[in-house]
Amino acid sequence: MKVSDHKNAQLIEEAKATLINNDLGGYTVPTHGLYPFQWNWDSAIVALGWLPFDEPRAWEETTSLLSAQWQTGMVPHVVFHQQSDTYFPGPDIWGVKNELDSTSITQPPVLASVIKILYEETKDRALADSQIKTIIPQLIHSHLWWYKHRDPENTGLVVSYHPWESGMDNSPAWDDALEAVPCIDWEYTRRDTSHIDASERPHKKEYDRFLYLVDFFRKMNFDDTLIYQDCPYRVNDVSIISILHRATKDLLWLCEKTGVDNEQTEYLKERLNLTASAMNKLWCAKTNMFHSFDTRSNSLCQARTSAGLLPFFAGLVNEQQATPLISVLDNWLEHSQFAISSTHPEDPNYEPQRYWRGPIWLHVNWMIMLGLKDYGFSTQAERITDGSRACIYASGFNESFHAETGARSGGADFSWTAAMGLYWLLPNQTEKE
Ligand code: GLC
Repeated sequence: MKVSDHKNAQLIEEAKATLINNDLGGYTVPTHGLYPFQWNWDSAIVALGWLPFDEPRAWEETTSLLSAQWQTGMVPHVVFHQQSDTYFPGPDIWGVKNELDSTSITQPPVLASVIKILYEETKDRALADSQIKTIIPQLIHSHLWWYKHRDPENTGLVVSYHPWESGMDNSPAWDDALEAVPCIDWEYTRRDTSHIDASERPHKKEYDRFLYLVDFFRKMNFDDTLIYQDCPYRVNDVSIISILHRATKDLLWLCEKTGVDNEQTEYLKERLNLTASAMNKLWCAKTNMFHSFDTRSNSLCQARTSAGLLPFFAGLVNEQQATPLISVLDNWLEHSQFAISSTHPEDPNYEPQRYWRGPIWLHVNWMIMLGLKDYGFSTQAERITDGSRACIYASGFNESFHAETGARSGGADFSWTAAMGLYWLLPNQTEKE
């Protein structure tokens, strides 16, 4: 689909205005009201949006996130920089002490991959060089934390303790694992459904369990060892594993460029090998794709979701898997003129409009697209780029998009979608056509 240069220029201005309007000084909220704080993987993606028009602000987005890094190395999923009564559960429920106000869980660690892009594409080498000096040790600390604390038995596959850690909060992939989590027994008032229609948001039965886990972490005093042992929800999330793998490679690339070579970088290289040799556990010969694995029930998570395509981004798809996985992708894309829906349209749990059960998220498509390019699947990569751009043309900078119509799904005026527009989808139009 082509739009005029004028329309394209207008969309670029709108995307910039979205970021500027969501900027609360050093960090960008995903959207006002629904998500009034700093979110981990949102901020990483958002830095890419600032890059083309305000590079210092792009770096600042990443350093403000890292300023909340825990002493253990974990970079939290949400940083509560200021108070807000439009969001639940807030800092009082999470109960974190001795750290900047934050949640006690993390999110997909795409940050190192973004930092590599900022470093490669910088127009201000002196700025990039000075930023990277502080950022690299922080990233190393974070990646060591992932491997040591989230895979203490050296299986090669890190675990996640909450669907919110995946960033794909309400994915049907988590249904069975979440079912095993008890419900909380206290009353609460949700805030999300006062911003967005309940038909697009998770059900109460899921929320009750989400909150049980939040309580559990606090009761365990956030102790990584205790949580690993006893958490009722413990999943090898294929999206986190893939994103972490790619990010570790990107971090090692940055280390090499800047002359960092030590025991820690050696350890990270070993971890890459360990993960590569463990990935078969996540491959399902029946569906011909990757799935997450529930370590409590010892079984693959059933649903076919876009997370199962992220091993392309990581370079973790082997030769035997690549062809069948591409057939799955081709079939997936036939269902929509837009991009990859979060759940496969033929999956029994597919809902084109409900949160992570169908809608299209552009940053997930971007990562899959990059992976496909690396593997030489350029036709599919272009198809995804065009379909993602069509979402913006259809309805603007929304949190996500209805899988079949491209209409708004979730919040409007959304930062990471504006960022994907600015960095990936809008400026390229004339180059490509
Ligand atoms: C939702 C999404 C999560 C995102 C957050 C802020 O919780 O599921 O991925 O980080 O919103 O946009």
